[in-house]
Amino acid sequence: MSSNLQFRVGPGGRLRGDIRVPGDKSISHRSIMLGSLARGVTRVTGFLEGEDALATLQAFRDMGVQIEGPDNGAVTIHGVGMDGLQPPEGALDLGNSGTSMRLLAGLMAGQGFEITLLGDESLSRRPMKRVTDPLKLMGAEINTTPKGTAPLIIRPVDGLRAIDYPMPVASAQVKSCLLLAGMYAEGETWVTEPAPTRDHTERMLRGFGYDVMQDGPRRGVRGGGELVACDIDVPADISSAAFFLVGASIATESDLTLRHVGMNPTRDGVINILRVMGADIQVSNEREVGGEPVADLRVRSARLKGIRIPEDQVPLAIDEFPALFVAAACAEGETVLTGAGELRVKESDRIQVMADGLQVLGIQAEPTADGIVIQGGQMSGGRVDSHGDHRIAMAFAMGALRAAGEIRIDDCANVNTSFPGFAELARSVGLQVSVNDV
Ligand code: S3P
Repeated sequence: MSSNLQFRVGPGGRLRGDIRVPGDKSISHRSIMLGSLARGVTRVTGFLEGEDALATLQAFRDMGVQIEGPDNGAVTIHGVGMDGLQPPEGALDLGNSGTSMRLLAGLMAGQGFEITLLGDESLSRRPMKRVTDPLKLMGAEINTTPKGTAPLIIRPVDGLRAIDYPMPVASAQVKSCLLLAGMYAEGETWVTEPAPTRDHTERMLRGFGYDVMQDGPRRGVRGGGELVACDIDVPADISSAAFFLVGASIATESDLTLRHVGMNPTRDGVINILRVMGADIQVSNEREVGGEPVADLRVRSARLKGIRIPEDQVPLAIDEFPALFVAAACAEGETVLTGAGELRVKESDRIQVMADGLQVLGIQAEPTADGIVIQGGQMSGGRVDSHGDHRIAMAFAMGALRAAGEIRIDDCANVNTSFPGFAELARSVGLQVSVNDV
């Protein structure tokens, strides 16, 4: 690693205050994509100014879309219409962002020009056949490496065919990729989810006036429609709030309020799971902004107990497991997770990397093929490696609240992909974190 941004987090302390975490990453990506393809001007507020969402924004600028901002979360997108994108001068570099690559693969399959999608080392290891296989069934011409990974090279074809696709994995990225491609296909494109996954694409498509059909676990779009610009207020990201929900639960004498948090029922698994563990989370001021439910959350210290995590909650909390594993390490008794093999193909292998780090900190954590078994106990201090995974870094940072010594976390630069200003915000409510270039 050429440069190592290391978090050092002093042991103990409590979290108190009233904060708003940055905007939802999933919704921020989609606002740029749909705003760019809409007719008219889309105004976004609360946009996440993190590297992942900025990679999507830059990609659309590279394809000729005029986008103003971001300025304090405000973005103005001058939509070019469904067929108005221009070929970029070079490849689109999507950095660490799986959402950018998988959703763009669907959109690009229907454009009239060739394009190459690139990613960083982590993104270039992640599986892409889950999107390229069904896109090929639609008639797309799309190449991966022999391992089925990026770069993706997408060539123009003479029209896409609609498909009716049973998804082998519960993935919102696959679902969204195919619905976006379906807007460019002849006929009705349907996808069937094996379990409900986040539905921001469906909600936002409807907000832009594009009909999304629903039939049990199937979602469908008819090709050839149009998007009409609208205003989007991006709620705070529940996946970023999750670190504070866990931190304030495990640290004694904590009392923390998180404002304007996105409470979409396909994303709230972390609250359900923490509550089963005994967490004290109060939800108030529930309202709806731009088609997405939001609320304020108040979380206070609680004695957590180990649980068997219900498998139906796994897709609804898929990004929150690093934080939940830290909660499990601080809980009384055993926590068992199954049915979460997807965690092995996130920004890092989150089962292995969390197990390794927890073991360094003296916690018994046994990885399994599709989950982990964690025995709650006393965490020690120590030095752990985030493997460049933003959520691993932030999860271990919160662990220090209950550790016996300082925790040092290596390779934290990618925290900026989803949560710019994490260390400063966490420090403002009581986490003893410093950021060091070592
Ligand atoms: C996302 C979907 C999830 C999630 C990712 C964002 C999205 O991925 O892990 O951080 O915005 O659609 P999968 O669809 O691969 O589960």
